[in-house]
Amino acid sequence: MEIKPQTIKVVVSEEIFDHMPKAEAEEQYKYLMSVLHGRTATCRPVVLSTKRFCESEHTIFLLHRNIIVGTGQISLADTFPTPHVYINNIVISPFVQKLGLGARLMRELSMLAVRKWGGDDRTLRLELTNNPNKKNAGFYYVQGFRARADGRWPVLVLKQVLNFLGWKAEDETVVWVKEV
Ligand SMILES: CC(C)(COP(=O)(O)OP(=O)(O)OC[C@H]1O[C@@H](n2cnc3c(N)ncnc32)[C@H](O)[C@@H]1OP(=O)(O)O)[C@@H](O)C(=O)NCCC(=O)NCCS
Repeated sequence: MEIKPQTIKVVVSEEIFDHMPKAEAEEQYKYLMSVLHGRTATCRPVVLSTKRFCESEHTIFLLHRNIIVGTGQISLADTFPTPHVYINNIVISPFVQKLGLGARLMRELSMLAVRKWGGDDRTLRLELTNNPNKKNAGFYYVQGFRARADGRWPVLVLKQVLNFLGWKAEDETVVWVKEV
């Protein structure tokens, strides 16, 4: 599929239904969720309803013509002193990966979060988790995210020793953070 940045429409939450019927949007979304979650996504119904699109939760869809080629979700946890914005379900269609759309999606999600919940010098902390088995840590690093680590020196020393010994948890989940 040939894609030029200017042909991509960025659609937020229920606006997707202005571009295609509800059933079609759900079908396309379900396909992308199956790329991300495998069989889990095919076993469960995918419902894009107003319940999911509310003041504290938004989904971005990247549209190329009438195809959803990427999607991602942001949710606000209005915590003191720094509100957290959780990013979930980031996926770009396998046919158009490595063309810059993932980076575009992350930028759009970040800008939407600031527009909706930032302002008045309020810093937001973007946060997401990824499974190292997916081997996409480099993607988040390039987008300016850093792995949240316990910075206390005994913990750092212990980690270095364990790394040196070749110990690594198979299912270790990494939390990535970025202040905006
Ligand atoms: C991860 C994913 C969203 C990246 O989207 P993409 O459109 O292929 O990424 P882009 O083309 O925008 O790449 C942006 C930058 O990240 C880098 N990058 C992309 N995927 C990478 C990876 N797996 N590892 C390291 N770097 C990566 C690119 O090289 C590029 O770097 P550059 O700007 O220096 O050239 C996409 O591959 C995907 O949907 N994967 C399957 C689902 C998934 O793993 N989602 C994340 C769940 S945690």
